[in-house]
Amino acid sequence: MKVNLIDLKRQYEEIKVEVDLAMRNVISASQFILGEECEKLEKEFAKFLGVKYAIGVGSGSSALELSLRVLGIGSGDEVITPANSYIASSSCISFTGAKPVWVDVLEDTFNIDVGKIEKLITKRTKAILPVHLYGQVADMEAILKLAKKYKLYVIEDACQAHGASFNKKKAGSFGDIAAFSFYPGKNLGAYGDGGMVVTDNRDLARRVRCLRNYGQEEKYKHLVLGWNSRLDNLQAAILRIKLRKIKTWNRKRLEHAKAYNKLLDGTAVMTPKIFPNYNHAFHLYVIRTKEREKLAKYLANKGISTQMHYPIPIHLQPAYKDLGYKKGDFPMTEKLAGEILSLPMFPELKLEEIEYICQAIKFFYRG
Ligand SMILES: Cc1ncc(COP(=O)(O)O)c(C=O)c1O
Repeated sequence: MKVNLIDLKRQYEEIKVEVDLAMRNVISASQFILGEECEKLEKEFAKFLGVKYAIGVGSGSSALELSLRVLGIGSGDEVITPANSYIASSSCISFTGAKPVWVDVLEDTFNIDVGKIEKLITKRTKAILPVHLYGQVADMEAILKLAKKYKLYVIEDACQAHGASFNKKKAGSFGDIAAFSFYPGKNLGAYGDGGMVVTDNRDLARRVRCLRNYGQEEKYKHLVLGWNSRLDNLQAAILRIKLRKIKTWNRKRLEHAKAYNKLLDGTAVMTPKIFPNYNHAFHLYVIRTKEREKLAKYLANKGISTQMHYPIPIHLQPAYKDLGYKKGDFPMTEKLAGEILSLPMFPELKLEEIEYICQAIKFFYRG
């Protein structure tokens, strides 16, 4: 048996007729950039999240950077964010000229350890940028409380958390502004790059709309210097079809996670905890083991692909050596980076495949 980490071909088979037709329609209309499909997706995505405004942009990274820029964050400012994430959560801060100030994470959620934030707040701190890692909402109640106390903005990195919620409130609807990625492998993925900024603030929404399109509200009148960061109509048409399926697909992901947890119970691997009140979107299903490299190799030989999200913590990346962080600065992030292993996770995964993977893991530990 061969099981991929993600299998987008299987998903395409399910929606092929609708997708092919939608693509033909966009090509026939030949309106490719920021057209009708994009506007419809923006409205539908905002409704799905329960927010007022959604603005389609070129990628999740761009969504993050534009969010920070419209909040006026830039040179001399500091933004508090977890050390345990994909590098884009931090590089978007650096691109504005601000400095990422990293915090360690909690062992049982992989998300920002809110108890460690307060002592990092300085006069330069402008915002907290939590990440809903792997599809689980960070502790937003505590983060919002701190943000209110110190008058800080909250920018949610919801790039891995489409449809995730806490107490039925969706990721992306808690902070001042939030960013989503439509990278193909995401729970809501395009067939190329794409992203979305969401907010309840009309002025922020207007400014993101302006900045994503060369700083213009009217054609060829540039109010500010902006970017070319637009969601194209082909991607939007595909995303609209997928958005209609995401509830079902996320439910399937949760069922798969529960099946994995049950089948791996009692083995030497640590499985992710599923907490009440949290609707985990399980973008990734991540186990932990001290024998991670050996297990990954063993599974690869059995035709099972795995990945590490992420093997090198951001503060130890060569790109950030100038900031002077060192090994030992964020012990939990570093510990997790050495133990995590993502197993295959996508809605179309079959129970037989999960059983096969779990059986292989059990065989590995039996030697
Ligand atoms: C947590 C997180 N933030 C930001 C990004 C950046 O998104 P994109 O790849 O669409 O630029 C990603 C996606 O890979 C991500 O996982």
